[in-house]
Amino acid sequence: MVGLCPFHNEKTPSFFVNSDTQSFICFGCGAKGDVISFYERYYNLNFPEAAEKLAGEYGIDWTLGGYGGDSKRDGYYEVNRAAALYFRNSMRTSGNPARSYMSGRGITDDTMKAFGLGYADGSREGLCAHLKEIGASLESAAEIGLVLREKEGFKDRYYNRVMFPIINTRKKVIGFGGRILGDGNPKYLNSAESKIFLKKNNLYAINITKDEIVKEGLSILVEGYMDVIALFQHGIKNVTASLGTALTDAQARMLKRYAGNVVLAYDADAAGVDAALRGMDILRETGLNVKVLVLEDMKDPDEFVRKHGRAAFAEAVQNAVPFLDFKLKTARKKYDLAEAEGSVAFLREAAGILRTLSPVESDYYVKKLSSETGIAEGAIVMEAWGDRAYGVRRSASDSNDELAVSRRPSFDAGEEDSARDAAMLAIQRNLIRLALYDSAFATEVRPHAKVFVTPSLYRIFGHIASLAAQDPDADTDTKALEELLDDDDRRTLADILDTVLLGEDPARQLRECIAQSEILELSAREKELLDALKVSGSDEARMLSLMEQLKTVQERIYHIKNR
Ligand code: UTP
Ligand code: MN
Repeated sequence: MVGLCPFHNEKTPSFFVNSDTQSFICFGCGAKGDVISFYERYYNLNFPEAAEKLAGEYGIDWTLGGYGGDSKRDGYYEVNRAAALYFRNSMRTSGNPARSYMSGRGITDDTMKAFGLGYADGSREGLCAHLKEIGASLESAAEIGLVLREKEGFKDRYYNRVMFPIINTRKKVIGFGGRILGDGNPKYLNSAESKIFLKKNNLYAINITKDEIVKEGLSILVEGYMDVIALFQHGIKNVTASLGTALTDAQARMLKRYAGNVVLAYDADAAGVDAALRGMDILRETGLNVKVLVLEDMKDPDEFVRKHGRAAFAEAVQNAVPFLDFKLKTARKKYDLAEAEGSVAFLREAAGILRTLSPVESDYYVKKLSSETGIAEGAIVMEAWGDRAYGVRRSASDSNDELAVSRRPSFDAGEEDSARDAAMLAIQRNLIRLALYDSAFATEVRPHAKVFVTPSLYRIFGHIASLAAQDPDADTDTKALEELLDDDDRRTLADILDTVLLGEDPARQLRECIAQSEILELSAREKELLDALKVSGSDEARMLSLMEQLKTVQERIYHIKNR
């Protein structure tokens, strides 16, 4: 079955469902998977949630195995939930110091309620007594670091703190961050890592903000709990934070489930810049489109939004710089470009950064870097890719093509590229075999001669085509052809005749090869356009033009596949 893809905008259908393999794939955006992953994606659920929803809809008996059916784990969730309610109740008492502290920081009662903020008062027995009273297990509470086991019995671990419950997308309280009221150490006391609290797998407030992230197609990633809360209160709701540790790839993958774009809004200090630099690599590796919001003179997003308000922050998000500009800018600050030594050192570092880019992205940045620093484009390319950069690489300035296409040699080509190269080679060899079989075929292949990207095959085909043109009625005489070739090409030809088999229906084989070559060509173009879109930044006109071209290319692919 074919239809419009629910995961990206399109006018011509490229979403295929195969009921035999019970799978779906979209040739437009690359989404693919089975029924459960469809539900995960379509309804923004995680695996168990998707399975549960499906089971419910189809009346399938649903029992959780080891995961949710784990009574130990359930016990931990229970005790955390009881504690969250207990802290929240204390927060409601009028005039308590936690509430005054938070309202002093501009946080309203509604916001405190939305995030379930609580108060751990000065007592070291309050929570323990409460848990005992409701019959909760203090043993469990101790195992997850909610209370402490001491000689004389259990004692509260949290006191005199604002409590931030950390809740996962399945609405379970998995842990807490507790902020001291005012200055002191540690500023935040977090739940210990436990079976239910794995910092690397969770994000702060994601339970509250994920729908907004999906809606915006963008997550704003900040460092602190308070940044999330302050932004949220000011109406910037597509926001989340890692849990007091460096960003992990599990967190990046989680973000990717919700939206393809991330704006990093880390603190303006050196630690924040470092964290941003590390974070962006992790996000990029996950395939996310990353930009960085620079806070200028403000300490953190909390301070920024409180001083300048929602509109100013939204504008700063709009103006966030692509991750690479941020990297290059940060690198540049370290060197004095007026000095030759500084220039050289900077060039070396910049080259290292550029090497991680796709060809289209790198062309764009080579130009940009050159015009900003006055370092010649050639010097940048040489430094980044060395001698290998020349010959195969076609510089952007060689063509009027709006899309600066460059093909670097295959030393750094990904798996995808080598699969594509293998397919290209097979097609060229097939076409030569077919052209030799029937000179009418040779004439048909001629308009597609640009598929012969392999020099020897290009030469061989050239001779076949001219022989066919001289005598269109006779099939090519291989003897005559061989005489036109040098030794190497002659061996290549012999190999083709030996190993490329003709099928039962050569005319059909010819059509398929031509269609395949067109599709490969178009897919390469599609990939280039997608790459170019990633770096098109806020240049709307360029973006529109690229999208227009992308649409045409995708429609052509679709038509070739369906003709
Ligand atoms: P910040 O110190 O930037 O936190 O640390 P913040 O949220 O802006 O705190 P305020 O505004 O001073 O109240 C960033 C994050 O690092 C973790 C917390 O997750 C915090 O939100 N952190 C920080 C800790 O886990 N422990 C600490 O002692 C400090
Ligand atoms: Mn702060």
